[in-house]
Amino acid sequence: MDRIRIVGGARLNGTIPISGAKNAALPLMIASLLTDETLTLANLPRLADVAQLKRILGNHGVDMTVAGKRLGEAELSGETVHLTARTIVDTTAPYELVSAMRASFWVIGPLVAREGFAKVSLPGGCAIGTRPVDLFLEALQALGAEIDIEGGYVIARAPDGLKGAHVTFPKVSVGATHVTLMAATLAKGETIIENAAREPEVVDLAECLIKMGAKITGAGTSTIRIEGVTRLNGARHSVMPDRIEAGTYAMAVTMTGGDVLLEGARADDLKRPIEILREVGAEITETNEGLRVYRNGADLKPVNISTEPFPGFPTDLQAQLMALVTRAEGTSVIRETIFENRFMHVQELARFGAEIHLDGQNATVVGVPRLKGAPVMATDLRASVSLVIAGLVAEGETIVNRVYHLDRGFERLEDKLSRCGATIERISG
Ligand code: EPZ
Repeated sequence: MDRIRIVGGARLNGTIPISGAKNAALPLMIASLLTDETLTLANLPRLADVAQLKRILGNHGVDMTVAGKRLGEAELSGETVHLTARTIVDTTAPYELVSAMRASFWVIGPLVAREGFAKVSLPGGCAIGTRPVDLFLEALQALGAEIDIEGGYVIARAPDGLKGAHVTFPKVSVGATHVTLMAATLAKGETIIENAAREPEVVDLAECLIKMGAKITGAGTSTIRIEGVTRLNGARHSVMPDRIEAGTYAMAVTMTGGDVLLEGARADDLKRPIEILREVGAEITETNEGLRVYRNGADLKPVNISTEPFPGFPTDLQAQLMALVTRAEGTSVIRETIFENRFMHVQELARFGAEIHLDGQNATVVGVPRLKGAPVMATDLRASVSLVIAGLVAEGETIVNRVYHLDRGFERLEDKLSRCGATIERISG
């Protein structure tokens, strides 16, 4: 199993190109099931989750071809893929595939909307929480689907097609918003989604669906309206930049000190994290190329945050921020409100000599003057990169084990960091 070796101490200077967003790429690829024409997605990141979803979509009958690189196209840029679901050959998403990547459960929406039937394995829980799917099922039922759960599978039937409905989510769910939005595009009549997720990835999906001929208003707000159409056409769409990747590197530069341009990052997607990083002591400026993050030697200041749905502080940056404030001059309190078990990195950060006290949803981080390198274990995608951030300033050597977690969501992380001066390498096998 691959590991990553880091020797801490270097400041980061240079440019980091931000990849396409994993959490936009996944629903966008799934949207290809809604039409028999070709959906071309550019700036698709090369990630394990994207590769896994290609396998799942292939299983349903989606043909995929990768466009060759154009002359002069940046080495670290994403790929362009043509996805064509001319015919849905199988409306079942098997346990073996779905259990490997939770978001594949989202195929249920387009399949039942287009084919009137879908049989999709329940995704089950994961390291960060129980992750139920009740909101998805209630929304599809509201759109007229008959839902049964048998043998670990959800069976959704709508032989006469879906019908527009008024869906009000009791809590914000990104996935349930994506799925309801996609299903409603082919439903008869109007659908209104209340208390919808406002994440930029929802807006990116809506923009792509509109290019495919969907009638959608209000994406990015809590109320989305969709006027169903009988069919969708093909389109070309470029995946938005990854705000979580950009936020992660901004935390890394703030931790090590230095001056880095996050090429392609968008300030509007990161308002709250930018506010917090400025409080910690970073200087962040928006440029035509992206976001410039700069910190000289000044001390890191403590902060208190609560994770919230967008536009609040994203839970997907919680672990990275925790690593950062382990070296702050003072005490920070981090409250995790989205997932019930998203503090797996705490014990691993303690191996570096960090002082963190857990109390239910709260983590109290008492800043320490120095961290010391150690062998640590990645437990989930975002927790694993928080260990990399700690390793970048820890004295001596750090070995991060189980980096397959990282590969799920960070494209060429060690390349991008070593180009900015970090001593970091992958050790294979
Ligand atoms: C998306 O997950 C992201 N995943 C997550 O990123 C991210 O942490 C999360 O949104 C919140 O921002 C992808 O986009 C692929 P939710 P999702 O439904 O859609 C509960 C990463 O690191 N809930 O918004 O699964 C749920 O348990 C990943 O890239 C129900 O109770 O998250 C959670 O507590 C991790 N019933 C809360 O809602 C439901 O039917 C928010 O989850 C659905 C969700």
